[in-house]
Amino acid sequence: MLNVAILGFGVVGSGVYEVINMNKEKLSDRIGEPISVKKILDLRTFPGTPYESIVTSDMNEILSDPEISVVVECMGGSHPAYDYSMASLKAGKSVVTSNKEVVANFGSELLAEARKNGVKYLFEASVGGGIPLIHPLCECLSINNVEQIAGILNGTTNYILTRMLNEGLPFDEVLAEAQRLGYAEKNPTADVDGIDAARKICILSDIAYGKEVSVSEIRAEGIRNITSRDVEDAHKIGCKIKLLGYSRPDGDGIYCLVAPFFVPVENIISQADDVFNCVLVTGNAVGDVAFYGRGAGKLPTAAAIVSDITEAVLSSSCKLLWTKNNNKDYVRDPETLPGRLYVRFASDNASFITDTVSCEASVISEKDGKVSVVTGITTEKELKKSLCILEEKGIKAESLIRLL
Ligand code: HSE
Repeated sequence: MLNVAILGFGVVGSGVYEVINMNKEKLSDRIGEPISVKKILDLRTFPGTPYESIVTSDMNEILSDPEISVVVECMGGSHPAYDYSMASLKAGKSVVTSNKEVVANFGSELLAEARKNGVKYLFEASVGGGIPLIHPLCECLSINNVEQIAGILNGTTNYILTRMLNEGLPFDEVLAEAQRLGYAEKNPTADVDGIDAARKICILSDIAYGKEVSVSEIRAEGIRNITSRDVEDAHKIGCKIKLLGYSRPDGDGIYCLVAPFFVPVENIISQADDVFNCVLVTGNAVGDVAFYGRGAGKLPTAAAIVSDITEAVLSSSCKLLWTKNNNKDYVRDPETLPGRLYVRFASDNASFITDTVSCEASVISEKDGKVSVVTGITTEKELKKSLCILEEKGIKAESLIRLL
């Protein structure tokens, strides 16, 4: 019998319980023995439910139970999720999680501890929910040098941007409705300010480039400042605005950031609308590979976790490994990343703007006292020199968005 404990019985934790019971036979066939949830850790007691008798609020009951070999951490947040994960690994139990905050902040430590104890730390569900992404990246694609990762990693913001585009609604209105419908959290900061996507692009970059990059090292920009005008301008030049996690190697370092991008409609990423995620990984041998699907939700996320539970007990294993990064310049300044940029100015002086911007700017729209332009290939650092000159003349840049 494979005995499992679930830490945290919220949406994802209860989804894991449901998937295990729903697919019991299939799981037993795969792992060669029956599977059972032996304990659930939660502060609530769930009276009258079929699982009432296995609920505990004492983590020691799980740690000291030699029959529990896999701990599923669905608590969210860093603490005590990290502490319980570490204690479980030290107690010789494999840990499976969807908790991107813990993986992004403590992944290398937890992986090292798992290795030391001959157990596994697995987190397929932490990025892209139900989309198989981490396993393909560290297995099938691992013989490639990854040249770029670009992807929609947050469903909430993709839903908001899709509705802004399709219905011409302003950000605040769509956010309020998403909150009412339960798509967006009451406190939407982690999603709309790019923090959730930052954790996810850090995890993917850790795996792809082998060195740990922490969320605090990267620039994470959200979508609060995107206006209907930006969305309209993007549409005018055949693009959609998408919040992307983006990384690529640069010598002995990497560029890694989260920001809204103009994505051409012919790029597969821009086809992912509503709450869907889409990640494009470019390998030097394989070229572009796209991963598309539900990046969140109870059963999709639980399915990825349950798949990791089976991996925890099977002998084959995904070679998850990365090391601490001791180079403080490992993550490059995004201002030096070359590319084309969209800029919206609070001014109607289009000719003065295009004459002043050093990197061949072409005008996309002029109306309502605002001029929008797209530059030629440049860097933010270079562009900002022109923006300073314009600002001295009272012409302010209100929006600056990168083109993919
Ligand atoms: N808040 C996240 C999202 C959930 O909207 O994508 C999945 O990580």
